[in-house]
Amino acid sequence: MMMRTDMKLREAVIHRLLALFLLASLAVPVSASGEIASASGFRLTNTCPASFELIDGGCVLRSRYRQYRSLRDAGVGGLKTGLPPLREGFSPQQIDLGRYLFFDPVLSADGSTSCASCHDPAQGFADGRAQAVGINGQTLPRSAPSLWNIGFFSTLLWDGSKTSLEEQMQGPLYSPVEMGNNPAALLESLNGNSTYRALFEQAFDESPIALDQIYTAITAFESSLISLNSRYDLYAHGYHEALNEDEIAGLNVFRSFVARCAECHTPPLFSNQQLAVLGVADAPGELTDPGAEAITGDASQRGAFRVPSLRNIVRTAPYMHRGQKATLEEAARFYTGGRGHEVPEGESLMIHWHIWEPRLTDREITLLATFMGALTDEAFMPQIPTAVPSGLPIVGVAQAQQAPTEPLVHNEIEIAATNNALHKNRP
Ligand code: HEC
Ligand code: HEC
Repeated sequence: MMMRTDMKLREAVIHRLLALFLLASLAVPVSASGEIASASGFRLTNTCPASFELIDGGCVLRSRYRQYRSLRDAGVGGLKTGLPPLREGFSPQQIDLGRYLFFDPVLSADGSTSCASCHDPAQGFADGRAQAVGINGQTLPRSAPSLWNIGFFSTLLWDGSKTSLEEQMQGPLYSPVEMGNNPAALLESLNGNSTYRALFEQAFDESPIALDQIYTAITAFESSLISLNSRYDLYAHGYHEALNEDEIAGLNVFRSFVARCAECHTPPLFSNQQLAVLGVADAPGELTDPGAEAITGDASQRGAFRVPSLRNIVRTAPYMHRGQKATLEEAARFYTGGRGHEVPEGESLMIHWHIWEPRLTDREITLLATFMGALTDEAFMPQIPTAVPSGLPIVGVAQAQQAPTEPLVHNEIEIAATNNALHKNRP
């Protein structure tokens, strides 16, 4: 009985603290006023997304991590570690326009595929597949990564070959196996749509619609996908009650010099954005994906991939660049299988020096997975449009993804805070 009451109390305290954080990160109170409706009923909001503050016409992130010093000074695995720079300062209208574009299959050659087809909000902005599937059912060589916190990344894609979101998105837009479009056709379809013409004019004060505006708007939306209010974060900010005993034990394994996870999956992003060769086979005894070597021609980068973030990682199974690991336990177990244990015969990979023989116990593997489960926070989930300006049906987006799947809300303050967060971008 005693135990029960204690736990209930603890939970109540944690939820209250989370609520305060949510409130603290809400920049401006919700206001539906001042939105400009276009003739078709689509309108762009004039308020920044939750946790952003409007400064000089641009939305700027408010986060406690911004009070901490840079990554460089803090030491690996440090809790109070600063964030790398964010792509920010976009206007509320640009972010909101990017939201419509992200979900609109009109961006693809045949109106079948949107960004959200492979980056579904309900699945951590990934797609739940080992390998993504593009236009006409074509299978891609790699899995779709999550887009949470992607605005902090300056090394993009599994092979690290892109440095900006604007540059990256031209890959899927114009790839014959992803969205199959071309720049001229994309411009023609958007400029031929009076709703989009009006919305772009609101967001950019310029017409006709130009490619740069499309790239800017989608970048603005992507950079608004912030997940920095998990229970781990609360713990990192000094509220030790936010994690349970097993999660703390898991964190300690994670940042230990034995497991070395935090050397590469460095907080608070849980990625140091560097390339590393782990030697995960694509299939047993097979290495089909050369990773960064295919880009640079540098043999020492054969099998090198950019360290992925672990934020909202419970939403994005299966794991690794080709979905080779079905569960978090399986992914964690890879690291204790012995250096190079999956490297196919005849391959000699330059395995990263932090990949070695930590001899983790089954218990430690479980604790690592438990800890990674505490990195979940979807409170600032953007509003998923119920209709897009092209009038095409919204594809590939699972239903009922609006509410945070982890029950964050338990009292009135929290409900108010979360409602604010969720309704910010309502069209
Ligand atoms: C057909 C599925 C598909 C579609 C459609 C798609 N993507 Fe992706 N996306 C992927 C895959 C697969 C990767 C990883 C590719 C790689 O690393 O080679 C990826 C990677 C990314 C990344 C890099 C993430 C990281 O961690 O580095 C971003 C950003 C991104 N996509 C944004 C978009 C945007 C914006 C759109 C729409 C314009 C879009 N994607 C459309 C499948 C897709
Ligand atoms: C040397 C740097 C490095 C270290 C140390 C490291 N990782 Fe990774 N991690 C990576 C890279 C690189 C990938 C992607 C590899 C691939 O796809 O082939 C990855 C992938 C993962 C994934 C899958 C992520 C996804 O989105 O698919 C998980 C989970 C993970 N690591 C957990 C851990 C844990 C737990 C530890 C400690 C036991 C650890 N990592 C140690 C670099 C590292």
